[in-house]
Amino acid sequence: MVDIQTLLTQSAQKTEEMLSELTEKAASSYPILNEAMRYSLLSGGKRIRPFLVNAFSALFHGNSEIANRLGCALEMIHTYSLIHDDLPCMDNDDLRRGKPTNHKVFGEDVATLAGDALLTMAFEVASDASLPPQTALAAVRLLSVNAGKAGMIGGQMIDMRGEEETLDFDTLLEMHAKKTGALIQSACLLGCYSAGIFSPDDPRSKAAVTYANCVGLAFQVIDDRLDAIGNTEVLGKCVGSDAASGKTTFLTFMTPDEAFRYAQDLTAKAIDAIKKFPDSQILCDTALYLLNRDK
Ligand code: IPE
Ligand code: IPE
Ligand code: MG
Ligand code: MG
Ligand code: MG
Repeated sequence: MVDIQTLLTQSAQKTEEMLSELTEKAASSYPILNEAMRYSLLSGGKRIRPFLVNAFSALFHGNSEIANRLGCALEMIHTYSLIHDDLPCMDNDDLRRGKPTNHKVFGEDVATLAGDALLTMAFEVASDASLPPQTALAAVRLLSVNAGKAGMIGGQMIDMRGEEETLDFDTLLEMHAKKTGALIQSACLLGCYSAGIFSPDDPRSKAAVTYANCVGLAFQVIDDRLDAIGNTEVLGKCVGSDAASGKTTFLTFMTPDEAFRYAQDLTAKAIDAIKKFPDSQILCDTALYLLNRDK
């Protein structure tokens, strides 16, 4: 049996190759923009979101080529969110994916534009003419909603407020669901779309959403925990960043061990939501892998 780490590594390589092909062409008069986009995009993240698109696609017998393409669109949005998240006006971080952050290398102006260009390019990739029109339209709409003010950006707004004042626990949950959960939910639903499942009332969509919401929240709980007790070299980003900026995180409310147990419960709920489907073992193992990760 192939272990989950091997599957993730193989899938990440494939995603990286496809992202590289998609961004090969640079505008001749400003090649630095493309260089900045590729610097962050091809810097070896975990590629967990494209993996989830593919895993849900496979679970529901979807089209793997469509899933690959939608996974790349989502990874572009995710990478843009990281470039902007690291800017001095946001989290002011110097290290990302084991390398100096985008603005440290290219300057804040180019880093901002590289993020903008990745965001907009994601919609170009998701609306590609070779996709079935209904899939492309649904994907673009989902990405717009979940990356925007009701999703990731909304969560980032709450996150910024959480530096000024201590958020209450319910607001923290809302922040995590939006800033991290929304893109993870996009991943699981894009996998459904690649299998022609669009209705939110379809039991498969409902299972995907429950799994995504639980894994998404657990993912940020573990991210907060690793920020406090992880290892900078392994993590590829600076440990202690949240405390340095006085952010409200899970560790405002609980110890690292309690946070782990909280994430464990969410992981069990995620597994519960999908285990009834044949061949769901990969997704169950993925939830456990994300719980126990050290980066
Ligand atoms: C980091 O995401 C930002 C969060 C939403 C917590 P990842 O942990 O998926 O980062 P990469 O893509 O592997 O670098
Ligand atoms: C980031 O949350 C979520 C995004 C939308 C990028 P964090 O600020 O905790 O992510 P890291 O720890 O910098 O990766
Ligand atoms: Mg942040
Ligand atoms: Mg950050
Ligand atoms: Mg963090």
